[in-house]
This record gives sequence, structure tokens and C-alpha cells, in this order.
Amino acid sequence: MARKPANAARLAELPVHTGPGTPGGDLLRRYWQPVALSSDVLEGGAPLPLKIMSEDLVLFRGGDGRVGLLALRCSHRQADLSYGRVEDGGLRCVYHGWLFDTTGACLQQPGEPEGGAHRDRIRQVSYRCVERGGAVWAYMGPGEAPLFPAYPAINAPEEFRFAHRWHSNCNYLQGNEGNIDPVHTSYLHSFKPEEESRHDALKTGVTQDIFGVDTAPTLSLRDVRWGLRLLTERRIPENGKTLLRVTNFVMPNGCAIGGAETPFGTGGASMFWHVPIDDTSHYRMEFTFHSKAPLPKAVMEARYRDEMDEKGMPKRNPANRYMQDREAMHRSYIGMGRSFPSHDLFITESQGAIIDRSAENLATSDIAIVRSRRLLLQALEDIRAGRDPLGVDRDAARNDYRDLLVLTETIEADADVDAYLKTMEAKDIYRLDLKKPLTPQLSP
Ligand code: FES
Ligand SMILES: [Fe+2]
Repeated sequence: MARKPANAARLAELPVHTGPGTPGGDLLRRYWQPVALSSDVLEGGAPLPLKIMSEDLVLFRGGDGRVGLLALRCSHRQADLSYGRVEDGGLRCVYHGWLFDTTGACLQQPGEPEGGAHRDRIRQVSYRCVERGGAVWAYMGPGEAPLFPAYPAINAPEEFRFAHRWHSNCNYLQGNEGNIDPVHTSYLHSFKPEEESRHDALKTGVTQDIFGVDTAPTLSLRDVRWGLRLLTERRIPENGKTLLRVTNFVMPNGCAIGGAETPFGTGGASMFWHVPIDDTSHYRMEFTFHSKAPLPKAVMEARYRDEMDEKGMPKRNPANRYMQDREAMHRSYIGMGRSFPSHDLFITESQGAIIDRSAENLATSDIAIVRSRRLLLQALEDIRAGRDPLGVDRDAARNDYRDLLVLTETIEADADVDAYLKTMEAKDIYRLDLKKPLTPQLSP
């Protein structure tokens, strides 16, 4: 039965706004955030102007190959550093030649007496960066950065993973709420099975058969140290067994969901982070991984490029009504092609730049959304109380995420699901296998 949120007042506290000084901004800044793809800043290439959580920044790669993330405006008189010169171990402002290194230290002030005797007093705002999984991750919070979580999907060698970024014109929080809503896949993404191919299965990470099995699955949740584990159980009428999918909410703006494990078997996962640009737009940073075989990245890249314009923006947008083909709706639910990410961008943008949650009527199938909001509110309280929020880890002994299961498995209907999950955790399903060739042959 539909019901209104139990405590509507608390909805207003959700971390929707993420600019500096907002509670939501304070929360997201406590976690490593993927702010760009590594390929956005090539050695010898131009600095990249970037807005993250309403802060204007510039990302550059110095001559030593290391990346730096600085405030966009020069500490001297606020010129735009993205037009600067990458040289002499840093980024040099082209107004008066001040040179900043990746830590924000001012190395030179060539127009000042003695080359800038007081330059030590100048510090450009800078954020610590690491490169993992084909992306640049920044820690924009206070104090010591937490450990970078050892996610198998992110830390694997390059041939096992693929990173991509989408630009989305809506608030990040509703973007990620779409990932922890397993029922929508049976509707928004559905199309007639004969329309499907392995090709599409790889691109989207799921197959239509899976969603068509039972369009009103049973959902349940488990509390885990990274957020929530979602269990989606679908009844398979042919054999009476259960199709179990395991996906995850990863605090506070991420998920680990179905990916290459569907076409290639156990041992794969996709992780997304929805990183705010400002309060009404964000990047969906996608990481696809499989531990048992190198991914056919040329095919994946081509399929993404099909959905992007020459500026890297989604071709489907409100100006062209997301290129909806109503004639095609007899074979696909929404008539917008078969790119699942494009479907997701469309539907979450259609909710409004910032969804009006007070007008929602949450239903049984929204349990993960309800619970994730509680976790976010609790995390805000933890920060206010001076505690690390859920998912921030500083203990190296605990920094092991091999139990962050993403599964699509057929199990007996009467199986003890929790015991089954324990078995799968013990199996170390993400152990890399460099020997097995990729079975499905995919062509562009
Ligand atoms: S404004 Fe950058 S050096 Fe003067
Ligand atoms: Fe989706």
C-alpha cells in the first residue's frame, strides 16, 4: 500500500545540497570522490576546468605524471588557472606567472622583488588526489583522508575494468536512488527478448530474461559496513527455483550493481558514483569490472559513443524529447533504444532538477530508498557528533571489500539465502584469473 514518508520534516534534511558549508557537502566531502577520468588529463595536455560540489576547480597533470586539483581562481588576483601553463613542476598562471605545485604551494612569483620573498604565505586551495580504476579521485574533506577503499572493481589491473562518465542534469541523490530500485529494471529497461543480443547484454550488464522472469520480485535488505546489501528474489516459473540478484548501496553516493557478471558469470560487478557538479547536475561515474576475463573495451566504448554527441554530452535530452520513438514502444517499454544508462539519465532527469520528495508516495518496492535515506540522515548526525560516518574506514586491517558481493545466481527456492551469501563471501569470487579467455565473442 502506498504511504507517505513517516517523517516528512526529515526529508528536508536529506543531503541534497552539496556546496561548501552545507551539511550534504560536509558529508560527501568525507569520502573519496571520482572527479574525472584519468584520460581527461593526459601528460602534456591542457588543464581541465571542473566544477565539483559547486566548487570551481582545475585539474592538471604535471610533468612528473602526477595530477593536481586546485581552486580554479589564482590566489593572486583570481585569474582562471585552467588557461595556465603546465611547466616547471606545476601550473603557472598566465596573468603574472605565479607557479603552483600540486599541493597548492606557490613556488614562484617572478614579477615580485627577489622572485617573491613572501610567497610561502600564499597557498592555493588544493585537494589530495589518487588515481584508481581509470579515474582521478579527490578527498575534499577536512583532516586526514580516510583509506581508499580496496574495492575489487576499482583496484583491478586495467584490462579487467572499464570506466566511463555520463553528464546528468539532475540532483545526484535521485540519480543514485535509481540504482537501488531493482524493480524498475522490469519496466523502464524492458524490451522484447528477441530484440536482445549478447552485445546489449554486455553494454548494459543485464539481460532481458532476468527482468522478465518475475516482474514483482521480493526485495530484502541487509545492513553492511559500506551501506546496504539488496537482495532481489524472482521466482522462475519453469523450474520453481529462485533467481537471486545481489546489489548494493555504497555510502553515500555510490552503488555496486549488476554488470559484466550477467553475460560472463560470477566474479563481475559495476560500481557507479553520482558526483555532484552542483545541486542540479552531476556526473555518473561508471566502473565495469570482471575478474575472470579481460573486457572487450573497444565494443563497450563504441556503444557508449553511440549515445554521446561530439562534446561528450548525452545525445538524448529534453530538447529532442530524449529521441523517444513511440512506434518502437510495441517492442521496448520506453522507445528510447537499448542503452540502459541513457534510460536511467532520462527517467531521473524527468523527476525534476531536484525531485520533490514531499509529493512522493513510497511503496513496498522502495524499501532500499527508504533505508538509504535513513542511513544518510544518520551519517549527517554522526558528522555533527564528530564521528566518522558509515563507510569511512581508517583501519587497514578492515580495508578488504572482497565480500562486497554482486551476484546473479539461480538458487533453490527453499535455500537459506544468508547461508548461501556466507558461502559466496568465503569463495573470494573476485580473485583475478588471467588465464581464462573471454567466451562470448562480441562485435561492434
Ligand atoms: S592573477 Fe595569477 S599571477 Fe596574478
Ligand atoms: Fe536502471
